[in-house]
Amino acid sequence: MCGICACIGNLNAVKYVLDGLKILEYRGYDSAGISYIENKELKTIKSVGEICNLEKKVKGIFSNVAIGHTRWATHGSVTEDNAHPHLSFNKGIAIVHNGIVENYKDLKDKLNNVKWHSQTDTEVFVNLVAEKEGDLLEKLINASKEISGSFAVALLDKDGNIVFGKRESPLYIAHINNGVMAVSDTYVLCDLAEDFYTLNDNEFAKINGNGIFFYDKNGKKIIKNKEKMQNFNKNNEIFEKTHMKSEILETKKVLIETFKNYKNELLFSSIKLPKKFEEIELIACGTAYHSALQGAEYFKKIGIPSHAYIASEFRYGNEILNKNALYIFVSQSGETADTIACAKMLKEKNMTCLALTNTPNSYLNKICENVLPTFAGKEIAVASTKAYSCQVFVLYLFSLYLSGKFKESEKEILDFLKNFPLLDINNGLVDKISNFEKIFFIGRGQDYITALEGSLKLKEITYINSFAIASGELKHGTLALIDKKSIVIAICTEEKIKEKLFSNIEEVKAREGSVLLISNFPSSFESLILPTFPTALMPIISIIPLQFLALHMCEKLGYNPDKPKNLAKSVTVE
Ligand code: F6R
Repeated sequence: MCGICACIGNLNAVKYVLDGLKILEYRGYDSAGISYIENKELKTIKSVGEICNLEKKVKGIFSNVAIGHTRWATHGSVTEDNAHPHLSFNKGIAIVHNGIVENYKDLKDKLNNVKWHSQTDTEVFVNLVAEKEGDLLEKLINASKEISGSFAVALLDKDGNIVFGKRESPLYIAHINNGVMAVSDTYVLCDLAEDFYTLNDNEFAKINGNGIFFYDKNGKKIIKNKEKMQNFNKNNEIFEKTHMKSEILETKKVLIETFKNYKNELLFSSIKLPKKFEEIELIACGTAYHSALQGAEYFKKIGIPSHAYIASEFRYGNEILNKNALYIFVSQSGETADTIACAKMLKEKNMTCLALTNTPNSYLNKICENVLPTFAGKEIAVASTKAYSCQVFVLYLFSLYLSGKFKESEKEILDFLKNFPLLDINNGLVDKISNFEKIFFIGRGQDYITALEGSLKLKEITYINSFAIASGELKHGTLALIDKKSIVIAICTEEKIKEKLFSNIEEVKAREGSVLLISNFPSSFESLILPTFPTALMPIISIIPLQFLALHMCEKLGYNPDKPKNLAKSVTVE
């Protein structure tokens, strides 16, 4: 959350930073700002809302040094005062920050001579830096010793020096044509650089006309190795009005691409499993957690004990670790703070870790010794769609590989991909569902997981309160909510639980609730019929109409599905 960008060189750094912020906007779009040097003066321009508002204000400005920020509000409401960059009390230093200063209240009390202009933790950071001795880098290193929490920061002083520091939040630096750039995400650098440096925790850097210089937490110069830039597969070829729509429509193509890359089993055979392999534990957040749940189902089906955990719960929970387990971290971005924290924690304890990500160069990939990529191409809309489908698919393929059934399933998979149905939901149904006050999603087994994901999609882009429940649980409490103002969207793709689910639907109808069944089994209920494929693959099909449902309801309400309020695509704070 929050994106930072800095640039120096024989170029218009303001333009490079602005272009970088546009790419980073998925990390937050509450406000944005840029600091730069003009006529030897440190100047700052900020605006509330999307980057396009800032763009209008900085039009025509030229400077060869600049830092910028796009904000997802943590401390302080969405105002221009709270927008970054923040300035030190003497107006000599500007800072942009991604992360959270956890002890900012204590530090604020200590800095009692400062007149505050914002409610942010970041303004405390820059003032702490300003009161330290030495050059800008020394000041930053000394100040960071007193900071608890996470940060990726870029600081610019009035002499045009730019320095960086990092703890937990990501930061990458690269030489570009005629200059140097530092950013929160290698997305920005993909088309500008062939290689890049990753700043590790408690490392610092300085950039100037002569290059990039790295330092450890004691200010000692260090040498770092460059990493090769890995690009995304060019899968973003469908251009609809919104990224979310394009991305759902790209699902079939990216599943095919993913299979192409796994077909020879090489990516699986290179995985280093624990010596005595006993179980698979999956850890993730949000939508990725739902694919982790599907993954756990696949592994259990082939006889491997498996569980999925929410990263923020696992991190502070009392889970018993197993040296003989494979720990899989599922993440589209590979930058999610809680997921990364779990991976780091387990790596430190010498567990076997695997990153299942959609983002080449991601931090999670670096932490884990094993990586399974998804080939979904860039996913820009905040709500994850095609990446979810690819995660579930790769977990399924992995379960086939582990059970030794990969080759024999190839024909079945090719048939599934060839006939993959992108089932939309028609306007009549969308209108009908929109009329209900309460929307529930139900299912059993794998369909319950799809219900969870369908409900999350609806909530995050329509702001309609809905929730998912395992249908067998309805009568243990939630049935009390069902009345004629309710619609229940039931998903059913497993023969073995079909009759049970149908009975649950009858219970809903008996309370005057309406029902829409999404299923490949015929019934007398109002239904959206799915084609039949092998049961394990059905969740990849049944989620599509639910993604479309959320999208159409969002469009009907006049919201932008790509940038839902209060959210950001990469959640880089706890
Ligand atoms: C919802 C959504 C989020 C992410 C979650 C984890 O549509 O996209 O719930 O799934 O924030 O993000 P990643 O997968 O990047 O770790």
